[in-house]
Amino acid sequence: MLMSQDVYAERRARFVEALGGAAAVIPAAPLVTHHADCEWPFRQNSDFWYLTGFDEPEAVALFLPHRPEGERFVLFVQPREASAEVWNGFRWGCEGAVERFGADRAHPRSELAERLPDYLKGAEAIAFRVGRHPAVEPLVLQAWGAQLDRAPRSGAAALGLVAPCPLLHGLRLRKAPEELVRMREAARISAEAHELARQVARPGLNERQVQAVIEQHFLEQGARGPAYGSIVAGGDNACVLHYTANNAELRDGDLLLIDAGCSLNDYYNGDITRTFPINGRFSGEQRALYELVLAAQEAAVAAVAPGQTAEGVHDTAVRVLVEGLLDLGLLSGDADGIIEQGAYRHLYMHRTGHWLGLDVHDVGAYRLGEHHVALEPGMVLTVEPGLYVSDRLPVPEGQPAIAERWKGIGIRIEDDVAVTDHGHENLTAAALKAPVALER
Ligand code: GLY
Ligand code: MN
Ligand code: MN
Repeated sequence: MLMSQDVYAERRARFVEALGGAAAVIPAAPLVTHHADCEWPFRQNSDFWYLTGFDEPEAVALFLPHRPEGERFVLFVQPREASAEVWNGFRWGCEGAVERFGADRAHPRSELAERLPDYLKGAEAIAFRVGRHPAVEPLVLQAWGAQLDRAPRSGAAALGLVAPCPLLHGLRLRKAPEELVRMREAARISAEAHELARQVARPGLNERQVQAVIEQHFLEQGARGPAYGSIVAGGDNACVLHYTANNAELRDGDLLLIDAGCSLNDYYNGDITRTFPINGRFSGEQRALYELVLAAQEAAVAAVAPGQTAEGVHDTAVRVLVEGLLDLGLLSGDADGIIEQGAYRHLYMHRTGHWLGLDVHDVGAYRLGEHHVALEPGMVLTVEPGLYVSDRLPVPEGQPAIAERWKGIGIRIEDDVAVTDHGHENLTAAALKAPVALER
């Protein structure tokens, strides 16, 4: 079930209240060229989507707290036009923007330049993200400049240009119950796809064929498709963190790392990684490292609770990994010193997670200056420690050379975890990860 328009209206009300006397200009995403005159499938700007639920390109939303009730939410949209719709499909147009999407007023996008200065007149400031919207930015700057010119004559306070991000991203960071429903759905489909992939994976298959099984399931289940480039990485390919070539043959004796999640029609995302033996049996080295990553991941998931921080979750995983690597002889020295110096980073070089929501790497601060943001109910983060044993990074001075038998093993385990009132909910627990479930 997609969200009702009431949800978007409520978000707008909260946003407008938070703006104080500032007017906000939030552009939709444009269509992006893939090559020649072919475009990528349309992907809405998540900020714009969060406030409007309007899934067309080139639109612009204005939020105008300084205007009277009934003039505070204005949409500029592509108007209905038979000759355009016959090529590219239905548009809601100005009437739809008002009737269906709750705009107080709607105008053709072509009238933005002319109308924007009037709408912004009287606002205490303009909230607009500079540097991201090249088609809209000159119009905003022009309107802002005109206001500054007028200010000395009218005696109005000089206008500021401010970023809407802290307000908006603070709202997006804390998921409402109806958002968590959608994130559970993204998690369900994503977890099922991982289970299917493990059932088909076998030596001799190509990584791409496993990718096809995963993405077919996303589409069959009504999702838009993958939330990001699916990573299907056999053996040493798993040590390339953003491996998306997905074109190698799966080899007997290797592990397969799959990092894939779906994006729903309303853009909520799953982000899951699982790693398992292609032939159904771990080698001794694979199992030792797998159990270590799993222990780190489970400890880090267990740490997710209100009052904890993303940094604390990361530190929990790092400590388990470093102590385990010391036991295995892949590190030497004392755990505290290694952690302080980062002398484990040739084996674990990324953070343990990120916020998850309408963006896969979702918005919201992790820290404010020196202060780490405390987890609150409704926040959703991934927990995804890993180990990547290869020759790509130099072994830090004082650390042992890596024996050949460990090389080519890349493991990551990633779940999507929502903070609850008293702890957490693992949204992706249906994707199995216990070694006994991965062997056959
Ligand atoms: N799939 C991207 C990530 O795990 O962050
Ligand atoms: Mn992730
Ligand atoms: Mn991932």
